[in-house]
Amino acid sequence: MPTSIASYDLTGRTALITGAAGGIGRATAVLLAGAGAAVHCADRDERGLAETAALIDDKGGRAVAHPLDVTDRGALRAAVRAAGHLDIAAAIAGIMHTSTVLDTLDEDLDRVLDINFKGVLYTCQESARAMIGNGRPGSIITMASGAVDAAQPGLLCYSAAKAAVVQLTKTLATEAGPHGIRVNAVAPGWIRTPMTGRHSPEVQQQTEAAMVRMSPLRRVGEPEDIAQAVLYLASDASSFMTGQILRPNGGVAMPW
Ligand code: NAI
Repeated sequence: MPTSIASYDLTGRTALITGAAGGIGRATAVLLAGAGAAVHCADRDERGLAETAALIDDKGGRAVAHPLDVTDRGALRAAVRAAGHLDIAAAIAGIMHTSTVLDTLDEDLDRVLDINFKGVLYTCQESARAMIGNGRPGSIITMASGAVDAAQPGLLCYSAAKAAVVQLTKTLATEAGPHGIRVNAVAPGWIRTPMTGRHSPEVQQQTEAAMVRMSPLRRVGEPEDIAQAVLYLASDASSFMTGQILRPNGGVAMPW
């Protein structure tokens, strides 16, 4: 049982992080590398991946870039194999999509479910298999969203995929626990990343102002806020946590 701050130390651990080319995934890769982990960064954005790897290298950390699409199970398997003894997997890659229920096309739903659910499923499956094979304890972290807690107009595809991620997380926690593998989800509130920064500066400012008003902490979330939650779940500090949904959201009760 961990009894000191050293339980956050990831020295000697190996981590796979999807979505590591930017936003929350990049912040997580940098933080986990800073905590001592060898970090395998996966993303379909090759340039962003190289930037993340360079950031980690500059700080004296160890990073390996795996350009891949999380919908490609074979590519994920190869990355997991390349990682060797995998201890930590953080399935962070994801996309945003908005359309009303009535305007949602089959192809929208398929795309969002493929990336935001199946991509997470494949990452969990390949990582859990490797961890069971290692015979060492492991920690898998998925990225859900505050969107699962309440309905919001336009978010059917996104929130349905994230709700499926929550069920995947809890189910896998029950199945992998006896092998010493913990599985938890992080469900962030609104975080300032490229995903949420695709609006005009005016709309962006209005959205951020609304988020600041709703948060008792009177600020918006940054990728590093979420990375800290992932570090906690990845490390021995959370050794009795599994099947849980951690909600770093600045205390914002979902408004809808
Ligand atoms: P982001 O857009 O900054 O980063 C997402 C990363 O995933 C990008 O680097 C992108 O290239 C990668 N990616 C997307 N599709 C991929 C695919 N098929 N294969 C491989 N890589 C792929 O987004 P952000 O904000 O950092 O989001 C990270 C995760 O956090 C996502 O799962 C998102 O749904 C979730 N989230 C984000 C929130 C926010 O407010 N930013 C709130 C709640 C959850």
